[in-house]
Amino acid sequence: MRQVNHWKRLGLLSLAGAVLTSAVSSTATQDVVAVRQADMKAMAAAAKTISGMFKDQTSYKSAEFRLAADTIRDKSGAVLSGHFASEAASAQSKAKPNILEERERFDRMANDLRDYAIALGAAAEKNPGAMTAGMRMKPGEAMGGGPFGTHVSSERVLSAMPAEHAFHLMLQACTTCHARFRME
Ligand code: HEC
Repeated sequence: MRQVNHWKRLGLLSLAGAVLTSAVSSTATQDVVAVRQADMKAMAAAAKTISGMFKDQTSYKSAEFRLAADTIRDKSGAVLSGHFASEAASAQSKAKPNILEERERFDRMANDLRDYAIALGAAAEKNPGAMTAGMRMKPGEAMGGGPFGTHVSSERVLSAMPAEHAFHLMLQACTTCHARFRME
């Protein structure tokens, strides 16, 4: 299952959070790095919650699913971009310097993430009871996007696809951005 593989990869990221402390240029820099890393960890926890409900459908709770989607919505888009507004040259940060050079691409990825989170939140709202078949991917359903094609341009397409599909695309958005903008 692709979802499991995605999750394993992301799960490892949180282990990388234990970074060494060393001198930083200013406390402001230190703060923004700490904030964005904490936001990323919160998004990872939220994605894990959603992933768990797709793995065990009986554990689905609309309100929890919704809360997790809202967490990602609130920490992506302009909020995420804003935390990478200037070069935070800090030993604690794993952000690559090309974020500033490739501003538009970075911001687009942050916005895509937000769009997926909004679609997931809407799906939870539409399905207050059990997780419905309509939320699941059909066997053999083509996965849109590839490593560099995760952008779903139309909101209509996004809201029409099963939530599970949108979730896969969302995880791809995480890994695509990390591949380009985060150090190994
Ligand atoms: C637009 C780009 C982008 C997107 C989208 C993105 N990330 Fe990140 N992520 C980064 C960057 C850059 C860093 C490194 C930040 C730093 O160390 O200053 C990072 C770091 C992380 C970390 C490590 C935090 C730490 O404590 O060091 C985790 C975990 C993480 N991201 C999870 C996620 C998850 C889960 C998603 C999707 C739901 C996601 N990210 C989406 C850019 C992104």
